[in-house]
Amino acid sequence: MESKISKIGVFTSGGDAPGMNAALRAVVRTAIYYKKDIYGIMHGYEGMISGDIVKLGARSVGNIIQRGGTILKSARSKEFRTKEGREKAFINLQKNGIEALVAIGGDGTFTGLHKLQEEYGIPAVCIPGTIDNDIAGTDFTVGFDTATNTAVDAIDKIRDTAISHNRLFFIEVMGRNSGYIAINSGIAGGAVATIIPEESMTLDELFAKLEEGGKTNKKSSLVVVAEGSKLGGAIELAKKFSERSSYFDIKVTILGHLQRGGTPTYFDRVLASKMGVAAVEGLLKGEKRRDGGNSQ
Ligand code: F6P
Repeated sequence: MESKISKIGVFTSGGDAPGMNAALRAVVRTAIYYKKDIYGIMHGYEGMISGDIVKLGARSVGNIIQRGGTILKSARSKEFRTKEGREKAFINLQKNGIEALVAIGGDGTFTGLHKLQEEYGIPAVCIPGTIDNDIAGTDFTVGFDTATNTAVDAIDKIRDTAISHNRLFFIEVMGRNSGYIAINSGIAGGAVATIIPEESMTLDELFAKLEEGGKTNKKSSLVVVAEGSKLGGAIELAKKFSERSSYFDIKVTILGHLQRGGTPTYFDRVLASKMGVAAVEGLLKGEKRRDGGNSQ
């Protein structure tokens, strides 16, 4: 493929997501297939600022397609949010001869890359890698499927205890301001209610539903709560409900970071691999967004 670009930098940034390694592998091997040099930038934007950059080869990304986390490490960089930070980062890219970038990350990563591109005109593509599934322009982000499966697996396990002990569980899942993990794991896990930031029942409606179950001899219940819930998190909801009702023995489980780790599902590996190939090919073809910016 004809392209002036000969050196590409790749990095992972923000919260790690299962499938980031699979995306990285595809990016590296596609770049090599097109006879381009490919450099890994460690720790996301932090490594760009400190100049922690290493040359990658096809073997650098062997045996990682099935691994969670990211071998390039990740970070949330405060310094990159400043103009000075981005200037340092761009100087390091220039020092290493890096002419184009592929990022793998979520909304913060997209925002940072967009800024760098606006300020320095470097061609850049971002692969949506986040468990939150909150990136416009794609139905699924890399990591979302695995994280949701992990949440469903955990909910199934909690259900065993809920049933054995006649308990009501409020289970909090991740997703920042997005309810995708919650709504999907709630439906798949048979929750009596799912509280999501985008739209949810009122507290009164939720409590009426739980009380109604109690009155009709429902002995156990699961409520899935997205961490971004506007009604309050799982701890708060459990407290409010216990102040109002004595129907259930109430417990709270916050699934937290266990949703970010683990072996990516086949779906995430395939999605990541396709996006990795498309990212490099898009860069080399010089694809642009419709509004005239480089493809992201
Ligand atoms: O964006 C992924 C995510 O796991 C969100 O769901 C969560 O709100 C946040 O990151 C947690 O971030 P950290 O690991 O930095 O605490």
